[in-house]
Amino acid sequence: MDRFWNPVHTIVGDGAAAETANVLRQMGAQGKNVLLLVWNNALLEREGFAGLLANQDFKVTPYCFQASNPTVGQLFETYRQTRELRPAAVVAVGGGSILDVGKSLCCLYGADISSEEELRAAIREKTLPSPAARWIGIPTTAGTGSEVTCWATIWDPDKNAKLSVESKENYAYAALVDPSLAAGMPVSLAVSSGLDAVAHAVESYWAKASNTVSKGLALRAVDIIMKDMDRLTDGCPDAHLSMAQGSMLAGMAFSNTKTTACHSISYPLTMRYNIPHGAAVSMLLAPVMSLNAPMIEDLPALLRALGLDSLDEVGPRVRELLKKAGLPSSLREWGIKEEDLPELAGLGMTKGRADNNPHELNEQIILEILRSIY
Ligand SMILES: NC(=O)c1ccc[n+]([C@@H]2O[C@H](COP(=O)([O-])OP(=O)(O)OC[C@H]3O[C@@H](n4cnc5c(N)ncnc54)[C@H](O)[C@@H]3O)[C@@H](O)[C@H]2O)c1
Ligand SMILES: [Fe+2]
Repeated sequence: MDRFWNPVHTIVGDGAAAETANVLRQMGAQGKNVLLLVWNNALLEREGFAGLLANQDFKVTPYCFQASNPTVGQLFETYRQTRELRPAAVVAVGGGSILDVGKSLCCLYGADISSEEELRAAIREKTLPSPAARWIGIPTTAGTGSEVTCWATIWDPDKNAKLSVESKENYAYAALVDPSLAAGMPVSLAVSSGLDAVAHAVESYWAKASNTVSKGLALRAVDIIMKDMDRLTDGCPDAHLSMAQGSMLAGMAFSNTKTTACHSISYPLTMRYNIPHGAAVSMLLAPVMSLNAPMIEDLPALLRALGLDSLDEVGPRVRELLKKAGLPSSLREWGIKEEDLPELAGLGMTKGRADNNPHELNEQIILEILRSIY
């Protein structure tokens, strides 16, 4: 039986962020504390957010969180500094990192956590309570789809681990997807986040957990993004709308299916070598697609959505896009030593991702995949 569920209201288009006050009213947040989490203080001067700060209907407190790939320590510090507010709503404005922090805070506010160690244990042992606040996601990158998923990635570099704060009760109340927030973004960031979204959609399409609805969303996401990728690398501002739409659709697709081998194998590449997440997953697309090919339903439809005629074209197309964005496209160029590959292969089996890949994965297969993109 096919089942699909995603409860997030979505508003997409230029100016969507200006809907924040209306959405907060729909949520019943009048007279209550609202935490406005932003990736950059300059955002607070933009019309929509300046208006929100001045709005007497809500008690809005701004908080700037600038780090990328948030760690347990950074999440604990943000919780410590904001917990007294007991906000009824968190408005998170930023890339996946900020959305994931805002999303996690909603679960943390219902708990009494006094140290980073306690937080680490609660995330690992999945003992965080139900969310005590609702959140609104306003993405400023088009890639992660975090605005429509119910899990948040929190990194634990000291322990070489990627943790996940997840709760089916913690979907955003609404996603306000406003491509004008991406204006002026460096092309390298736009391309690496766009390729992350492509990987979400492609992996969702072939995931063991895929279903009719998620497959439809995934194909459409790949098509919308790939059709406008060249215009994005050429710096056309209106390409951000396609990226925003496609990234959200990809997020919807993988919110129900999770990702597979590309994401699983990519995590140690990002943790150990700081390879941007989107660049890491996209380099893995071609070898993983070749591995999975016999098990992919209607492979020609997936290739068509990618704008390609054959499997052999996937690797060169990804490399071409990374190159246009000024990003390396092989593990060697990212500074990885060949003798480190076996250890990276050993770290590439992530539970819930590796076992969701249609083709079986093991360390030897992962090592061959890593060698093929060295
Ligand atoms: N929760 C999920 O479903 C999910 C899915 C995929 C990835 N993730 C996580 O999301 C994080 C990565 O998110 P990301 O790729 O969006 O990057 P990010 O949020 O880490 O941001 C990357 C950089 O871009 C800057 N930035 C953000 N918006 C910008 C803009 N409009 N213009 C210029 N610069 C801008 C940030 O300040 C940061 O320096 C990782 O921690 C990853 O694991 C979460
Ligand atoms: Fe991703």
